[in-house]
Amino acid sequence: MSNANLKVKVWRGSEEGEFVEYLVPRNPNQTVLDVVTYIQRKLDPTLSYRFACRVGMCGSCAMTVNGVARWTCRTHVSQILKGDSLEIAPLTNLPVIKDLATDMREFFNKWKNAVGFFKGSQTRHDEFATVQPDSEERQLANAGIECIGCGVCYASCEVVEARPDYLGPAALNRAWTLTNDVRDVQQLERMSAVAGDAGCHACHTQGSCTERCPKGIEPTASIAGLKKMISRAATRGSKWGKL
Ligand code: SF4
Ligand code: SF4
Ligand code: FES
Repeated sequence: MSNANLKVKVWRGSEEGEFVEYLVPRNPNQTVLDVVTYIQRKLDPTLSYRFACRVGMCGSCAMTVNGVARWTCRTHVSQILKGDSLEIAPLTNLPVIKDLATDMREFFNKWKNAVGFFKGSQTRHDEFATVQPDSEERQLANAGIECIGCGVCYASCEVVEARPDYLGPAALNRAWTLTNDVRDVQQLERMSAVAGDAGCHACHTQGSCTERCPKGIEPTASIAGLKKMISRAATRGSKWGKL
């Protein structure tokens, strides 16, 4: 590995701003988050960005790197470098607070709007619920449960870009995961929340979310599951009652 410098253009400002170029020493196994951290620690302490775990668990480090939304702590510079340049910007489809930090409130508010939170009927005094690992519901719920809320899918979604009220891939994936959780008691509320105009039917199924998700989750498949369930509920009713 040579000790050459990387030319790194970084977005500075909020909605209004500009790219500023920094020279960062190239290192073996360097991640994009390492590059941003170097700039903040050695070149300009006023640079704002977000991270916590550095190991792909917390979901807070996502940015747009060379035009594509990615988790930066698990993205090696060598995987994506074009020539000797990198361009790092905040996630798209979200308001920018400052530099590389976006405002995630509307992203998580949509999880709430999609009833993307668990509510059970048991108390701490009851026995643990038993959910068979090989049951269909458990398998379906497991498929989407490892979401870390990074927002990469949301930033990659063309429908979110065109209509900002769309609930988006992460919230709908969460809704589908909970729909398959046999302990949850909000199934009808959740179904009507995601059946609306800005819900699952707005998805065009082209799959940018699935292509980009760093955890290998397939929101497109989750959304297809919701669509099927809702059309069945509208024609034949559902096991939880009428929609
Ligand atoms: S498949 Fe649906 S949710 Fe995923 S990016 Fe496309 S429109 Fe968005
Ligand atoms: S579905 Fe994937 S890309 Fe979307 S928020 Fe969850 S982990 Fe991130
Ligand atoms: S810093 Fe936690 S996922 Fe990247």
